[in-house]
Amino acid sequence: MADVLQVTAPADFHVHLRQGELSKLVTPHVYQGGFHLAYVMPNLKPPITNTDQALEYQAQLKSIDDRVEYLMTLYLSPELTPEEIRKAKKNGIAGVKSYPRGVTTNSDGGIESYDAYDAVFKAMEEEDIVLNLHGEVPSDASNNICVLNAEETFLPHLVKLHTKFPRLRIVLEHATTRAAIETVKSLGDTVACTITAHHLAITVDDWAGQSYHFCKPVAKYPNDRQALRDVIKEGHPRFFLGSDSAPHHTLAKSTASPTDPCAAGVYTSPILLPLVAHLLESFGALDKLENFVSGHGRRFYQSTAGFAPKKVRLRRSTSLVEKEWTLGDQTVVPFWAGKNIGWEIAQ
Ligand code: NCD
Ligand code: DOR
Ligand code: ZN
Ligand code: ZN
Repeated sequence: MADVLQVTAPADFHVHLRQGELSKLVTPHVYQGGFHLAYVMPNLKPPITNTDQALEYQAQLKSIDDRVEYLMTLYLSPELTPEEIRKAKKNGIAGVKSYPRGVTTNSDGGIESYDAYDAVFKAMEEEDIVLNLHGEVPSDASNNICVLNAEETFLPHLVKLHTKFPRLRIVLEHATTRAAIETVKSLGDTVACTITAHHLAITVDDWAGQSYHFCKPVAKYPNDRQALRDVIKEGHPRFFLGSDSAPHHTLAKSTASPTDPCAAGVYTSPILLPLVAHLLESFGALDKLENFVSGHGRRFYQSTAGFAPKKVRLRRSTSLVEKEWTLGDQTVVPFWAGKNIGWEIAQ
């Protein structure tokens, strides 16, 4: 087994870089974790809903750390028009992210529908802007929908969207189920899927009672995790890394209050490339590392952004993951804090 690995221009195709002081703390961790490209989520408060806001946010991120290229996204909302899509394209905006709450609720049995956005999706298809789907339906006790089946229940919406807009490039984000993997595989070349590092590691047992492992979508059954691992091991070109690294202040993660729920999100950015190498090696897929973290995603997005010819080097390690990171009054705890990862970045 090699003790040194080289990876060309790693790209994280789904990351939350926040705003304010928290952004100053977490944004440099993208590069520190081995990545040259960040595909940035728009769910700020308030969300990034137009091109001007996205460009301003991109400038802020660059001023914090200019070693990384930032690909920007807009939050799908009724504000978004076909004209704004064309403006976004001219300004290099890469995608539009749809969250469950950004989806209109129609009268057909309370099931969410994307029909209200047909004109926007048509413009996205014409302009070749990517649609990023948070693929979960809202919980609904009367229809037996909860976090465990919210993703699987969403999948018919993905199929319908792809059928209606076959040339629209769609990414099903952070897949967690065997059903999602099989559905994406069954669709055409315009549909891809991101997989996080933490969903390769954890299952229901790990977040039930451990708030730092709680994220949306929640990790599912061991059998689902196996499907995520298998599709990477198979080297399928439409599956690639999007970390969904989602930092929250420790107080938001570790609350024991009966009224404030724990914030959803697992924070992996500072350790991301070593962690992915460690996990892929654990299930015999280390030879797929470069395509999973760089090649497949860049080919789907047709993106050379942040494509430094310089490779990132990893070497075997016995170092421990930091217990926490702090800047000013912001403190975040990384995934696997205090644990050993078998690889580290060798600069
Ligand atoms: C929230 C969102 O953007 O609506 N995430 C989610 O739906 N899973 C995050 C937030 O409330 O900021
Ligand atoms: O766990 C999650 N955290 N899932 C999301 O979709 C949002 C993210 C966040 O922004 O914290
Ligand atoms: Zn999401
Ligand atoms: Zn996310």
